[in-house]
Amino acid sequence: MPTMEENSIDLRPGRSNHSALKQLATLIELRCVECASLYPGISDQPRYRCDCGGVLDVDAKIYHPFKQEPALQQEFETLTNSESDIKPFMGDDWRQLFEERALQSLTWPINVDAQLLNASGVWRYRELILPIPEQYIVSRPEGNTGLYPVGTENCGHHRAGHRQIGHYAGLDYLFLKHEGENPTGSFKDRGMTVGVTMANLLGARAVACASTGNTSASLASYAAQLGLPGIVFLPAMNVASGKLAQSLAYAATIVQIEGDFDDAMRLVEQVCNELGIYLLNSLNPFRIEGQKAIGFELLQQLDWEAPDWLVLPAGNLGNTSAIGKAFRQAHRLGLIAHVPRIASIQASGANPFFQSYMSGFSHRQRVQAQTVATAIKIGDPVSYSRARQVIEETNGVVEEVTDEEILAAKTVIDRSGIGCEPASAATLAGIRKLVGQGIIKREERVVGILTGDLLKDSHTGIPQPKQDDSIMISIEAVRTYLTHKLSL
Ligand code: F0G
Repeated sequence: MPTMEENSIDLRPGRSNHSALKQLATLIELRCVECASLYPGISDQPRYRCDCGGVLDVDAKIYHPFKQEPALQQEFETLTNSESDIKPFMGDDWRQLFEERALQSLTWPINVDAQLLNASGVWRYRELILPIPEQYIVSRPEGNTGLYPVGTENCGHHRAGHRQIGHYAGLDYLFLKHEGENPTGSFKDRGMTVGVTMANLLGARAVACASTGNTSASLASYAAQLGLPGIVFLPAMNVASGKLAQSLAYAATIVQIEGDFDDAMRLVEQVCNELGIYLLNSLNPFRIEGQKAIGFELLQQLDWEAPDWLVLPAGNLGNTSAIGKAFRQAHRLGLIAHVPRIASIQASGANPFFQSYMSGFSHRQRVQAQTVATAIKIGDPVSYSRARQVIEETNGVVEEVTDEEILAAKTVIDRSGIGCEPASAATLAGIRKLVGQGIIKREERVVGILTGDLLKDSHTGIPQPKQDDSIMISIEAVRTYLTHKLSL
């Protein structure tokens, strides 16, 4: 057995990370989602799967924020088994801590690391994310994304454009949380800051992922920040141009695969295990820990009044898993009084999770994926078991929407002035469908996640300018043009 000093992912010489690794090893374990086997949180060879093939979840000791006593004993007991463990009084202490940090972060000198961490919408919740010494953290900082009130009742009359979304959804109290407002334009930055921080602590010599475009853009940016080579495996011709441009500009090494995302995912896992490269897909359980912060941040923005529903697009199912875990932890820590129901929305041409749900999760489906929403063009989602647990635990639902429904919803979001990339619009399409079916009630409070920025994909579902639309440089020409366009 090699020792930690002979770590097979190449600890860089001269680094003093051994004690930090040892300390972290006492605080975290990895638990198999399938068979509950436990593994050390830190080991010579990074572990992404159980010996049974199941994916792993971080099981961390969470300490009370002000006292040296455990706040959560057994993280992985199910909600129903653990109701008696909940200590509502403890929620006040956590709320106080997070409020103080959010306020502090409004002004921060650029060279004060602790302030910088408080300014991150991930590391502000660091006790619930990863107990790691601050000097290893690689942060842009990320998060602090907008939560737009767009329901017919909770959207002000001076924002008629935004209220169109509420009309379209059929909801009085709807919020959209725009994760496209993260540093690289998608929610992936929240998991990536934690994944790259782990790579830093472990002394990885390179990091890699397979991606439909957003994970790769995020990995490329954070790897560049740390000064580490980033390698991204992409399905050739199936990545939106804005995302590809980001990976190229951030100077990642791009490996285009003659296959789809699922092929790229299988390949990158093998490559990382064989070449000792640190894997940063959401198969890596530390990525999931970072993405939990979407849940914590939106709860804080709602003053810890949990919504009735959380709706989001679903592809590889990392985000469904992460937000579900955040809600479970927030509930058990007394931060919120109830756990929101989660609705995961898939494109109908890439709907393995929906099909499995429809069979009562009696068997796991895989499909050959096809959809205009390339971000979620995934047929064999890695986090299937994690997400299944979340849907079951939260009394959630899985729904599918057609490409036409996705594009129609995207047009509504775009024309409201908010805008998003196609996959994100599955959220609104799904909400509309679930309201139509009476599953989500008109008066319920709903938060929908928009996962990526409009500019990620500047073609799909966007009217393109026509060459012959240009006019002469004259007021007359403008008058004629505007009369024609707008009947002014
Ligand atoms: N929305 C966007 C914009 C995405 O990029 C993704 C996933 C999802 C939704 C689905 O989230 O996989 O956690 O269920 N994109 C990954 C990528 C696969 O490589 O960028 P999920």
